Amino acid sequence: MGVRSRAERTTAPQAKPRLKNLPLSEVYKLIEPGPVALLATARNGRPNVMTMSWHMMVEFEPPLIACVVSDRNFSFDALRATKECVIGIPSVDLAVKAVWIGNSSGRDADKFEAVGLTQMAASCVGAPLIGECFANLECKVVDSGFVKKYNLFILEVVKAWINPTRKNPKTIHHHGFGKFVVDGEAITLKSRKP
Ligand SMILES: Cc1cc2nc3c(=O)[nH]c(=O)nc-3n(C[C@H](O)[C@H](O)[C@H](O)COP(=O)(O)O)c2cc1C
Repeated sequence: MGVRSRAERTTAPQAKPRLKNLPLSEVYKLIEPGPVALLATARNGRPNVMTMSWHMMVEFEPPLIACVVSDRNFSFDALRATKECVIGIPSVDLAVKAVWIGNSSGRDADKFEAVGLTQMAASCVGAPLIGECFANLECKVVDSGFVKKYNLFILEVVKAWINPTRKNPKTIHHHGFGKFVVDGEAITLKSRKP
């Protein structure tokens, strides 16, 4: 296959690692892909933002994203009713704000105001872009078939924005209960185009 390094090919096989049981309740920490994102909604002229990391790509183009938004969140009703949102991707400089946003509710506070995030008009949806995020994705809910069972929305990205002045932004990735890793060294390997 040619994927083992010379050192790996010439050394004796390693002893089998001793494996430990991982509680099923902790599986999500491995699979939760990140990056941590901010999900902005606006309902009846009231913008709100929540932190989100249970999301995944479903299709390349048009880009489809599956995301779980708990029905206990204020954002849930807004997303279900308006069928629109913006996914903003923060870099590590916004980590403290992202955690605060993810631990407080739009029911009780204007979170944009509270953390000092800038709302910008989107072009295709009513929810605001988040000025401090290095990327913003305007999304429409295109499939609600799994909302009742899993609180899972399928979003289509209808417009995507990137801030060209932000060189090499470092995203943050959630490892559960306040632990995060920051995007590291970039490497390029030969890969087939999709
Ligand atoms: C790092 C992080 C990731 C989170 N990911 C999600 C998620 O994917 N889905 C979700 O429903 N809530 C998630 N939350 C929790 C919501 O952000 C939180 O419940 C928030 O208070 C909801 O705000 P709202 O009531 O204004 O909608 C996350 C929180 C943090 C801190």
